[in-house]
Amino acid sequence: MMNKAVVNFIRDDLSPFYPEQELNSILFLMFEEVLGYSKTDIIIKADTKLKKKEKFRFEQILGRLKRMEPIQYVLGSTQFYGIKILTDVRTLIPRPETEELVSWILEEFNADGLRVLDIGTGSGCIAVAIKKCYPNCQVIGIDISEHALAVAQKNADIHKISINFIQGNILNATEIHKIKELDIIVSNPPYIELKEKNMMAKNILDFEPEEALFVENNSALIFYEAIGEFAFKNLRSGGKVFFETSALYNNAVVDLLKKMGFISVESRKDINGKPRMVRAVFK
Ligand SMILES: C[S@@+](CC[C@H](N)C(=O)[O-])C[C@H]1O[C@@H](n2cnc3c(N)ncnc32)[C@H](O)[C@@H]1O
Repeated sequence: MMNKAVVNFIRDDLSPFYPEQELNSILFLMFEEVLGYSKTDIIIKADTKLKKKEKFRFEQILGRLKRMEPIQYVLGSTQFYGIKILTDVRTLIPRPETEELVSWILEEFNADGLRVLDIGTGSGCIAVAIKKCYPNCQVIGIDISEHALAVAQKNADIHKISINFIQGNILNATEIHKIKELDIIVSNPPYIELKEKNMMAKNILDFEPEEALFVENNSALIFYEAIGEFAFKNLRSGGKVFFETSALYNNAVVDLLKKMGFISVESRKDINGKPRMVRAVFK
């Protein structure tokens, strides 16, 4: 089978499952993964014949995609803030709005060598992106899931950087009370209430880890309250806390942080115009 026939085959096979635009990006990612091709290679090598092994790999990927498994899990990695991040079902897939949060943090970084804590680090995407940009800062990542931490550690290893990953429960601050004197605290915590489940895409519910997404009903703010209190005790003067939030509760997080006594509490919208981030300063 030649490459141009593979392109048509993939299109026909996946078109009942994915919209046209998504299909194109899936196609590019598959060719990059199996053959190491760029977008241009797909055109200029259209008449190159596929080896048996390569055909088998394409078929394997197609099978998983038809079961609606996210491409990031099927391929085992994704790009986050311009770097490769390994992904598997033990961790949330890093999202574009989280890249925007990293961008905001780095905009406000005024020195290398800062002490940074990423709470609910998951794949470690935020921690790794910050450490890659500022190699001299001391980055700590905590997560309740030892499985997520194993993936986060692999991500630090492939980028040859050192991050201190610690297993801990932020809702039980005594476990992590030794992490003090911080300049930056960042968190993209679980914030979806269980009652919102029926509005969510099936492939998220079927594949992504529940503990990364959900909180009990009526407790959408539970992590923001706990992290806010922790930040109030453990940030240095002038230190900052950055949150990703749902658009639904962004205002509530702003109010909460103001009530707690943080200053310069600011909300920011994502590229789609939705309020999805908050930053606050500890005086
Ligand atoms: C929304 S995910 C964010 C993952 C990653 N930081 C990202 O932005 O892609 C939330 C993370 O919080 C972790 N988590 C859930 N409950 C926690 C708790 N009580 N203490 C610490 N981490 C927790 C989950 O395991 C998950 O990795």
